[in-house]
Amino acid sequence: MPKLHLKESLAGLKKLKIKINFKNKDEAPVPQPTLKTVPKGLKVVDKYPLYEPFSHVVIVQNPKTGEHKYILDELQLDPLERGVYTRILEILLAEIESPKEEILDPRKFFAEEAKKIVDKYRISLGWLPDVSWYKILYHAERDLVGFGKIDSLMRDPNIEDISCDGVNKSVYIWHRNFESLETNLQFDDDETLDNTVVKLVHMAGKHVSSAFPIVDASLPGKHRLAVCYRREITPFGTAFTIRKFREDPYSIIDLINIGTFSDEMAAYFWVCLENRASIMVLGGTAAGKTTALNAMACLIRPGSKIITIEETAELNLSHENWVSLISRQSYGLGGSNVGEVALFDLVKTSMRHRPDMLIVGEIRGQEAYVLFQALATGHGGMATMHAENLDSAVKRLTSKPMEISPSYIPLMNIVLSIQRIHLVKNGEKKAYRRVMNVNEINEYENYRQSFKWNPTKDIQEVDFEKSVLLTNIAERQGVTKEAIIEEIGRRKYVLQWMREKNIRSYKDVANIIAEYYARPKDFYKKILSGEEVKPIAVIKDT
Ligand SMILES: Nc1ncnc2c1ncn2[C@@H]1O[C@H](COP(=O)(O)OP(=O)(O)OP(=O)(O)O)[C@@H](O)[C@H]1O
Ligand SMILES: [Mg+2]
Repeated sequence: MPKLHLKESLAGLKKLKIKINFKNKDEAPVPQPTLKTVPKGLKVVDKYPLYEPFSHVVIVQNPKTGEHKYILDELQLDPLERGVYTRILEILLAEIESPKEEILDPRKFFAEEAKKIVDKYRISLGWLPDVSWYKILYHAERDLVGFGKIDSLMRDPNIEDISCDGVNKSVYIWHRNFESLETNLQFDDDETLDNTVVKLVHMAGKHVSSAFPIVDASLPGKHRLAVCYRREITPFGTAFTIRKFREDPYSIIDLINIGTFSDEMAAYFWVCLENRASIMVLGGTAAGKTTALNAMACLIRPGSKIITIEETAELNLSHENWVSLISRQSYGLGGSNVGEVALFDLVKTSMRHRPDMLIVGEIRGQEAYVLFQALATGHGGMATMHAENLDSAVKRLTSKPMEISPSYIPLMNIVLSIQRIHLVKNGEKKAYRRVMNVNEINEYENYRQSFKWNPTKDIQEVDFEKSVLLTNIAERQGVTKEAIIEEIGRRKYVLQWMREKNIRSYKDVANIIAEYYARPKDFYKKILSGEEVKPIAVIKDT
């Protein structure tokens, strides 16, 4: 059972924006979660704080079955505190005024305003120790401006996905180290679950109802939310899944460091993208398609006009000349599509904005057809597609509803397949993402493999011999294919240099790439000679 230390707890309290003056030093409150829920016989394999001192997590294992469980240990309100909480919630809702200006941090705003209101009412609400007020304010913040019951899960950087399959069912998460885990959280009745989900959907600026039970939305913080509301289509009750967004997105350097890409592979994509090649990422659910696409996009020339088209906003580019288009669901009833703006419409309209590069987050339907039309007219294109391998992707692309003519398939120049696989490293078996292979589409059903993952050595084997794309790029530039391969070598060196110098955040990486685009020879010479390099920051800190 995890016990909080006094020092840690006070440090946690200091991090809160709320300041409460302790009247009596001996009374200094040290709220502690009291974990009564770890059943006997289970082994604690990991524990860490999520929001000190209010919530912690303990990961336990059943030694008999080997199964892991994620136990959220959160400070709960006692019945007396719950009563005050309910009343204070009503007062807060009535008294907190809408901010006059746009607020950047709603939690901070709420904490400050709530503190003022609590000070005003704390006497009339009856005496409670300071510790109780901390807990009440924590719960009020969690439920009013946070994500409610799952707020603590949203704070856990190890969680990739959170999913609830219905009422009275454990919430499940995907944990970076332990993979799929059952949690001790569940929604006990339809009303609580439905209210939570309605609130989440409202936070995303959308609407959900029995008439419109399916919603895909983007929560504050860019977390992707998918909802099936009430028992309209989900007999177990409302279901939802959240794909958590990383505040610090994986850059291409991160993906090389964790072995998903090789540096040579990234350098190859860099040269190809500069020459307007089109790239598609394939993979199963949560294989890392969008992450790979986003990381590769930073290799596109900085001044290029990029249009991204998605159902929910997930992509995060460093380019200045970037337009993000998001599709919209219909608000009509009875099968009418009134008000709908589909991916198809967006891809079509984007052509009028003269993009150098069109990025479609995920192709599924007719929009693929328009994307290939765009490729045919000389635009660059990138996309992801849910498919296990190139053959099944091509089969789907050429059948309904995409119906792309086989003669158009080679317009997609490069296709990479990414997979989540298990590897034993340092005696520990864990899930990793690896690019399984990279193929150039030379003609319909004629593929040239440029990279292949070797599972025994865990390396990406390269073969440019049969590459037609590099030959075409060389011809267009009036140089030899060897010269292009040498350029790939130089860029590989730049990427390796970034790794050595620990330049990894997507903004820093984008700045180096911009510098290389601007002065390739000078830059390469400088890093070869070990001279200090200060790139001009094209990506400003916001
Ligand atoms: N190379 C990687 N290494 C480690 N984690 C990764 C990697 N790529 C992605 N992830 C993590 O895996 C999760 C899923 O990633 P992502 O959204 O890119 O997958 P996807 O294939 O696009 O999924 P979907 O099919 O649901 O759209 C995210 O939490 C992401 O941070
Ligand atoms: Mg995706």
